[in-house]
Amino acid sequence: MNRRETLGIAVIGTGRMGADHVRRIDRVISGARVAAVVDIDRGRAEAVAAGVDGCTAYGDADEAMASADVDAVLVASSGAAHEEALLAAFARDLPVLCEKPLTPDAASALRVMEAEVALGHRLVQVGFMRRYDTEYVRLKALLGTGQLGRPLMLHNRHRNVASPPFFTSSMLITDSVAHEVDVTRWLLGHEISAVTVLCPSSSSGAPGGLRDPQFVVLETDGGALSDVEIFVNCGFGYQVQAEAVCERGTARIGDGHELVTNMAGRWGGTIPQDWTERFAQAYDDEVQAWVDATRRGEVTGPSAWDGYAAAAVCEAGVRALETGGRAEVALAERPGLYGAEV
Ligand SMILES: NC(=O)c1ccc[n+]([C@@H]2O[C@H](COP(=O)([O-])OP(=O)(O)OC[C@H]3O[C@@H](n4cnc5c(N)ncnc54)[C@H](O)[C@@H]3O)[C@@H](O)[C@H]2O)c1
Repeated sequence: MNRRETLGIAVIGTGRMGADHVRRIDRVISGARVAAVVDIDRGRAEAVAAGVDGCTAYGDADEAMASADVDAVLVASSGAAHEEALLAAFARDLPVLCEKPLTPDAASALRVMEAEVALGHRLVQVGFMRRYDTEYVRLKALLGTGQLGRPLMLHNRHRNVASPPFFTSSMLITDSVAHEVDVTRWLLGHEISAVTVLCPSSSSGAPGGLRDPQFVVLETDGGALSDVEIFVNCGFGYQVQAEAVCERGTARIGDGHELVTNMAGRWGGTIPQDWTERFAQAYDDEVQAWVDATRRGEVTGPSAWDGYAAAAVCEAGVRALETGGRAEVALAERPGLYGAEV
């Protein structure tokens, strides 16, 4: 790949994440600029482009990708629109950072992965940004030293202040637990083989009919268990915590003890209210790593295989939720393009 000194990026989808990535590329990271923004809501794209020097707004992704200014693509449209954008980028051999999910279901994720395999080289990095979060990176490094012994269990908590109006019970799995699916695979180096979902009575804070919270148990092919409390209407903050229980010790992240105050007979700190705040450093490092790799002509980070595996596990999770039982995960064979390690 022969790329320009400063990478010209087309950001597809200028909603909450897309607009934040535009700000990040424009003002935070180095080596790239926002050359184009695309949204089916053209007015939204135009409003975002107006704040960035030399950025053109488009209503159609393929038109933006055809521009000579565009060297790489960041997909931040709604999940259902990802497949079309990814295949359009493949047709032009453009590297892509695709927000999670790769696609919303396993069949479409498999189609995307197979299309990349047919190209014979990787183009996609999937936006599982927790792999770039300082605390998760430290936990992964510690587990890698072997000091704590073999990991046996992971306990994860994932809490949001409130869910958006369109959120359904299965989206707690496909949109939220998708992150724990990826960190479980990444931290343990195992594939997930089965999923069980148990639901307590729903919180009175959950909108009518929403099964919230849920308790998800992931079984891995390495014999570990990873449980996830997902609670998307907890009301008090955005909290993501993980504890690894190993043969000789435990390690925990996400307690948020950065700033501790003592005041009026109490001690305490603050809880972030959303992911843009909690994972700001992870998003910055994720996009910088993608830009740096792309400028070197490399593709690194979570792959289309990781995106496909997460989609397959989430699909099993939705089956487990609907049946109230345990659902096994059926994965396709891992293509050689993605190496041997999970
Ligand atoms: N990594 C994370 O922590 C994280 C957090 C939030 C959202 N996300 C992901 O980011 C993506 C966007 O989420 P969001 O919260 O910004 O949603 P959003 O609804 O705020 O924005 C989506 C935007 O995409 C546009 N869009 C839809 N179809 C399109 C198409 N075919 N072409 C161009 N634009 C199109 C919509 O008009 C909208 O402006 C989703 O995949 C979501 O799962 C990731």
